This record gives sequence, structure tokens and C-alpha cells, in this order.
Amino acid sequence: MRVVSGVGPGVCSGWGLGMLVRYLKIIGALFGLFLLMVIIDRAIGVPGGSRFYAVACLSAGVAAGLSCMWALARQALASGRMCARLRVVAQSAESHCLEVLRKVTHYVESRDRNRSGHSRRVGELSERIAREIGLDEKVCTNLCVAGQLHDIGLLAVPEAVMSSSTKCGVDDFRLIKKHSEVSYELLLPLDALSRKTLSAIRYHHERMNGTGYPAGLAGEQVPIEARILAVADSYDAMTHDRPYRKAMEPLQAMSELRRCCPAGYDPQCVDALARALKLAAMEADPADSAATPLGLRA
Ligand SMILES: [Fe+2]
Repeated sequence: MRVVSGVGPGVCSGWGLGMLVRYLKIIGALFGLFLLMVIIDRAIGVPGGSRFYAVACLSAGVAAGLSCMWALARQALASGRMCARLRVVAQSAESHCLEVLRKVTHYVESRDRNRSGHSRRVGELSERIAREIGLDEKVCTNLCVAGQLHDIGLLAVPEAVMSSSTKCGVDDFRLIKKHSEVSYELLLPLDALSRKTLSAIRYHHERMNGTGYPAGLAGEQVPIEARILAVADSYDAMTHDRPYRKAMEPLQAMSELRRCCPAGYDPQCVDALARALKLAAMEADPADSAATPLGLRA
């Protein structure tokens, strides 16, 4: 996108400069012609000849100027169309790239049947929490993407660890802890993801008291986007089965999150989660009491 947006104006301004130089050459030639005519006129002595030559040269200059301006306008229009087309192609390539990454995340999740749909739900829930807090619309939609891709780094965790039916040991946990940094490294070259989105992914396992990973950030050092993602991630993990424990009921998960405030989670994010779940429950189809529009357990 950054490259594409710079193509049109650059091409157009280079072309326009060339046209201006050509126009100045025409004006210079006409002025030279006018002087020559005046000199000849003075030598031969035609009455009123200078005025006639001046009007003729001026008219030719105006005609040349109008012609150049018309050509410039046509070029600008064509350049604008080309930029618009390139922008559409770039946006399509970006969304295709994100779709591929979502599928990779889905593949990673499928190695552990209990994680199925986790990233999609975390994305949707994070977006809702951000909206409840009142963050910019762009930040909200970016958080949805961050949630969908936050665990892509689990790709680097061995199959045996991912599919284990027991709670992981110290060594396995050391491997798992690398996934947020791996997610960040994998997604870093992608222009489509903002710096804040990447930070949310990188720091979604940080805790408010500094006991999280990978950097041990604390309090305000943890970006708000990462604090939101952490709450959504934990809530979804708590309310779904794991091989070594059964899913918690939503109210139980909420009280667990509140118990871990403010040491683990940001209280404003947990409060926003409660409001988001309430709203999701209200939006759910009344005929289907077991489901919310998000597939969340509210
Ligand atoms: Fe994670």
C-alpha cells in the first residue's frame, strides 16, 4: 500500500515538469520570433506591424498553454485511475494474505481439538471489549484481526506438546511461552498490520503486575490493546474444555477474572468484557438460548 500510494503523484509530477519545460521552450521561441518580427518591421517600416506580431505571438502562446494544460489534465486523470486500480489490487492482495494467515492459524488450532474456534472468538470478543471501552473504530477492527492471529506462533511448538492430554510441564511451558514472540516475528513484515496490532499480539500474555511474558511489562507499560486481548483470551480459554480440566461456567470465569484484578488483568477491560457479554446475549436469537451471535458462552 505504501508503495502504491506513492506511484501516481511521482509519475504525474515528473511528467508535468517535462510538459512545463516544453511549454517554456515554446514561449521562449515565440518571444524570439516576436523580437525578430519587430526588428524586421523596424528595418522595413510596416505601420502597426509590431502590434500585429505581438497579438499573433501572444495568441500562439495561449493556444500552446491551453494545449499543455489539457494534456496535463488528461495525464492526471489517467494517473489517478491507475493509482485507484493499483490500490484495489493491493487491498485485495492484503486481504488474501490475511485470509491465508487465518487458515494457518486454523490449522495450528486443529492440532488440539479443544482449541477449535478459539482465535476467531478471541478476535470477535476483543473487538467488542474495545468498543465498550470506547476506542477508535479502526483500533476495534484491528483488534479483531489481532485476536484471529494472536496464536499463530504456536506453529513453532512441537506437535507432541500441542496435542498432549496432560497439563504441560516446565520444559513444555518454556516452549509454549515463545509463541507470542514467534507470532510477532511472523507477522512483522506484513504492512497490513499496524504497530499497535502487532504489539497486542506480542504482549497478549503480559500481566499487570509484571509476571507475564515475553517482556515482563507491568501496568501502563502493557499496551491497552494487549490488555484487552489478554482478557478475551483468558475468558475464552476458561469457558472451554481443556484436556486436563472442564470448562468453567461464564459467571465462574468472570469472577475468576475479577479475582485476578488488578494484579493480572486490567479491571476496566474485565468490566468492558462483562458489558460486551451482556450485549452479545441480548443480540442472540431468543429461539436459540444456548448460543450468542459470537458463539460465546455469555
Ligand atoms: Fe497465546
